[in-house]
Amino acid sequence: MADLRERGIMKVPSLTRRDFVRMGAGAAVAGAAIKTTLLEPPSLLAQAAGEAAGGRKIRFASIGTGIRGSDLLRSARNVPTGECVGIADIYDMHQKSGVEAWGKEVPTTRDYRRFLDDKSIDAVIVATSDHLHKHVVLDAVAAGKDVYVEKPMSHKVSDGFEIVEAVQNGKRILQTGSQRVSNILFIKAAEIYASGKLGDVHYIESHTNRNSPSGAWVYPIAPGFTPETIDWKEFIRDAPPRAFDPVRFFRWRCFEDYGEGLAGDLFVHLISGFQRVSGINAAPARALSTGSLTHFKDGRDFPDLLATYYEYPNNMVLALHCNQNYQSEEPLIVEGSEAGMILEGNRLTVTPQNTRPQPEGYSLDGWTSELKHQYLAEWYKANPQPPIQIEAAEEYILPRGYDDTAAHLANFFHAVETREHVVEDEVFGNHAAIGCHMANYSYFHKSVAHWDEETRSIKG
Ligand SMILES: NC(=O)c1ccc[n+]([C@@H]2O[C@H](COP(=O)([O-])OP(=O)(O)OC[C@H]3O[C@@H](n4cnc5c(N)ncnc54)[C@H](O)[C@@H]3O)[C@@H](O)[C@H]2O)c1
Repeated sequence: MADLRERGIMKVPSLTRRDFVRMGAGAAVAGAAIKTTLLEPPSLLAQAAGEAAGGRKIRFASIGTGIRGSDLLRSARNVPTGECVGIADIYDMHQKSGVEAWGKEVPTTRDYRRFLDDKSIDAVIVATSDHLHKHVVLDAVAAGKDVYVEKPMSHKVSDGFEIVEAVQNGKRILQTGSQRVSNILFIKAAEIYASGKLGDVHYIESHTNRNSPSGAWVYPIAPGFTPETIDWKEFIRDAPPRAFDPVRFFRWRCFEDYGEGLAGDLFVHLISGFQRVSGINAAPARALSTGSLTHFKDGRDFPDLLATYYEYPNNMVLALHCNQNYQSEEPLIVEGSEAGMILEGNRLTVTPQNTRPQPEGYSLDGWTSELKHQYLAEWYKANPQPPIQIEAAEEYILPRGYDDTAAHLANFFHAVETREHVVEDEVFGNHAAIGCHMANYSYFHKSVAHWDEETRSIKG
């Protein structure tokens, strides 16, 4: 609250104590406290209402059980409405890590198509490198499976539209895997945003900064990784042909043939959070990026610093950056005319703005004190001030151990069973991915990226 006072009526006109006495008690800022609420997540079973809650588990196969695929399986263990019944990964060691993550023996294979032919399997979770999302999703949809596909949904703009079309024509359920879309803190933020309480919002910013080897994808090559332990051809698929290359396999995020660098890895989460909170489900109209590669010059294709300004419909500016040479929190900052909202870590804070009319005060520093007092006295007489009603700031906190990935999976299983909508469908996922592709387009072309809805493509 001190900050509000500093920016409020007590500071702006440079008033003396005597000025206050003249203005009367009404001008004093009412002390405002913070109202803290510990959010309560709905039970994962309750999120799978309907028949699924009655006992039937959604039978799914996991395709790609490296880092994320294994994490998804660990989270899935806590979701009572889904059951992993098979693991497909082209790399033998990752098949084993997938089984370990799930905690139970299930059939494993290098060829995911084996599970697509199995009519007893409802759905697949796709956590392959990004360039394979389209292939696996299209195959799965053609086989009548519902799909949870990791973010970013597409590797190229055209992939995204192929996925949208296939899912909609096949009447399949697709959940994109940006789990914060199911996070109860983001859901609360979206509720607050939609209530209008923040007033007019035209600027939102967010960033992810991390300076560790993990943060910069300097992943080690696993011992024993040889061409015999992997189906290399299946990894390359329609990417430019390459001989076996462990660095490209383990650090695929660094290479444009398989990933999209910072945009596809991290911006996508920020954009998904932005879309969730603001309710804007659209491609940005324009994007302008800058950045550099100064630290991790290890042969990667992408910058280690990327900053982008986006223009969204309704005069909304979204500013994002990711810096792999700096460590900090990952806030989402929403600037509203009536209140500001910050999501950071496990906390959401809403702080009202002081919007009372105020006399212009800065220029009075150049006036004589007599004239200044006369002017202010007349101003306050002409503008009687109601008592300041600064509402208490609100904050919402996530319970310890809360897992939004489990919530996101539960939402998917629920939709598979009930055929109701998921929270992050193919259209939402496509829009978020387009934002990532536009950031890269602008960076590499050194020009503004324009979204052309008619041709569904990025123009310079
Ligand atoms: N939602 C999140 O928070 C989050 C976090 C990390 C990664 N991801 C996403 O998850 C996906 C996987 O990333 P990762 O970090 O786990 O990468 P990874 O390289 O550790 O795992 C990818 C796995 O896919 C396997 N694979 C590749 N082609 C395959 C195919 N044709 N059939 C079966 N398996 C195949 C690889 O062998 C590997 O085991 C990416 O899309 C990434 O962007 C999401």
